[in-house]
Amino acid sequence: MAEDVTYSSYLDLDRILAAQHPASDAHDEMLFIIVHQASELWLKLCLHELQAARGCIVVDHLRPAFKMLARVARAQGQLIQSWDVLSTMTPHDYSTIRPHLGGSSGFQSAQYRMMEFLLGGRNPDMVTMHEAIPQVAHELRQEMDRPSIYAEVVALLDRRGFAIPREVLERDNATSWEHSSAVEEAWAQIYREPQEHWDLYELAEKLVDLEYHFQRWRFGHLKTVERIIGFKKGTGGTPGVPYLAGVLKNAFFPELLSVRTAI
Ligand code: HEM
Repeated sequence: MAEDVTYSSYLDLDRILAAQHPASDAHDEMLFIIVHQASELWLKLCLHELQAARGCIVVDHLRPAFKMLARVARAQGQLIQSWDVLSTMTPHDYSTIRPHLGGSSGFQSAQYRMMEFLLGGRNPDMVTMHEAIPQVAHELRQEMDRPSIYAEVVALLDRRGFAIPREVLERDNATSWEHSSAVEEAWAQIYREPQEHWDLYELAEKLVDLEYHFQRWRFGHLKTVERIIGFKKGTGGTPGVPYLAGVLKNAFFPELLSVRTAI
């Protein structure tokens, strides 16, 4: 009954607020846990919006998709802000927590990987670490079988009459999106005459915004990690900062970057 609903019951606060379990006596561990948990909640919202936005793009309902993509960019703003809070943690503070983390790392965030997959950054090796939880591995594989948001946008360009080669439209979904000069040319036409193709122009800019925010998150993470652990290895087993610098080079929508040089 709606009358029985309280603030706490509606939001299931008992469970959410009982879900912080520091493993050490370190004062800063609460911050460490909460920043990660809050990030996972924002990621959950991003996935919810991105999945719905893709559904809208498939049926050419771009206006609702714009609203959702704009919301994702704002949620990414919240994710980026979290680096400011986390960077109040010093190397000494972190060193008291690190021994308790074992092999756990944000590297194993299934939602983060799902967001990359949805956008079109797809590395099948990233599913392997999730095999221990079959449902998670299954959902990531299922996503890899589907066209990403960007693949759906390129399919839309084709439906709107731009010359997109068949081999681009029939690409293997389980690989990251590779630059195509035909797709770049389609974007070039749109960017040269935005008045003629206003909704596609707006869609392109929404995607650019999203990728820009994604890169700002990655860069903020890298700089936060650098000031906290320097060049120590990550708990997830990668070389740490050099790995994070490497992923900064991954572009989700390569033609939307290259078109800026082309026009
Ligand atoms: C003291 C704070 C943090 C440190 C020292 C840190 C360190 C690292 C390192 C070294 C990696 C590389 C993988 C590894 O070997 O572990 C990594 C990956 C990652 N971290 Fe963090 N991290 C911190 C906070 C966070 C937070 C708050 C989030 C939010 C969810 C996060 C999410 C991720 C994600 C998603 C990856 C994978 C990135 C990719 O594969 O592109 N990290 N982290």
